[in-house]
Amino acid sequence: MIECKDLWLTYPGASQPSVCGVSLALAPGEFVTLLGPSGCGKTSTLRSVAGLEAPSAGLIRIGDSVVFDGARGVQVPTHARDISMVFQSYAIWPHMSVQQNVAFPLEVARTPRDEIRTRVEEALRMVGLGAFAERSATQLSGGQQQRVAIARALVRRSSVMLLDEPLSNLDAKLREQMRLELRELIKTVGLTALYVTHDQEEALMLSDRIALMSAGRIVEEGSPQTLYMQPRTRFGATFLGAAEVFDVAGVNGREVRTSEGALELKEEAPGAAHVVIRPEAIVATQQGAGSPGANRWSGRLVSAIFSGRQQQLVVELASGRRVNVLAPPTTAFRPEEPVVLELPAERLMPLAAETSSS
Ligand SMILES: Nc1ncnc2c1ncn2[C@@H]1O[C@H](COP(=O)(O)OP(=O)(O)OP(=O)(O)O)[C@@H](O)[C@H]1O
Ligand SMILES: [Mg+2]
Repeated sequence: MIECKDLWLTYPGASQPSVCGVSLALAPGEFVTLLGPSGCGKTSTLRSVAGLEAPSAGLIRIGDSVVFDGARGVQVPTHARDISMVFQSYAIWPHMSVQQNVAFPLEVARTPRDEIRTRVEEALRMVGLGAFAERSATQLSGGQQQRVAIARALVRRSSVMLLDEPLSNLDAKLREQMRLELRELIKTVGLTALYVTHDQEEALMLSDRIALMSAGRIVEEGSPQTLYMQPRTRFGATFLGAAEVFDVAGVNGREVRTSEGALELKEEAPGAAHVVIRPEAIVATQQGAGSPGANRWSGRLVSAIFSGRQQQLVVELASGRRVNVLAPPTTAFRPEEPVVLELPAERLMPLAAETSSS
């Protein structure tokens, strides 16, 4: 439904390209997120798909139409692309009512009056603002204003929706609620969505697939589970969640030697340069912990902080290295006393040495 092929974008006067050979394809109805740190080129890529930037090279297809082709000088203007957009600054017009705001794109397109009325009603109903049509847009909360912006995108009935950090102006609680609403809405309507965020949890919860970007490139791509459970790069492992990374000093079959101790992996990983584990995958035991060995490292509990859902432990290993562990909230831990950490083989993620991109 959306296809980018080897897309490059260098802004006028810039010394370096902001988008460096991005290739990405979205199936109809798929929800794909561009995730990455600030300045990595997410918005630039999205704006290229929208036709708001002129890429330097590559090809962009939306549905059956080629909307950009660097080689043939094709650049279809934004309004002629089958897309709708929602941005971070939702830019609703304060002097208009809710219904006027949502009707605006249709007025511009000279849609007949009756059709405008039914389509606006439908869009407002979908975002739960059916009763607010006559309200002035300024008399709405932040969350309601963002819903107006979403309704204004829905009313176009395009096949593709482009969203750039649409929830980042909302407070944490509302953001979580709108996140689920937004996904449900997009799935119900059957839109193909390209979504931009730098928020890992948001990307994990919303997406069918995540494309992780760094310095203008897509460095990893996959389902949320795959990216979280089987990252291929150190950048991927550490960007997508908390991670403990151990450097590998030697490999012998399934056994790897790290600076902190021996680890037995679930499969052989001949080129492993690091082994990564998530804090929630480490099991900490104080009473009857048994003896240390491969995948069982001893240390000292520095602190245990209770946060309701879990306890955040800090454990110091013999080398002085500190390791973060997430433990169940109900286990009793005694700080300053010995602890054994179990690192289960099936949760250890070996990573090869990297040549480029952090
Ligand atoms: N209009 C512009 N002119 C020149 N350089 C730009 C322009 N817009 C963005 N850039 C540069 O291009 C790079 C990518 O920017 P972009 O806005 O795509 O990043 P981003 O991933 O969306 O970041 P953020 O999470 O902060 O929104 C940055 O180095 C930025 O400074
Ligand atoms: Mg951006």
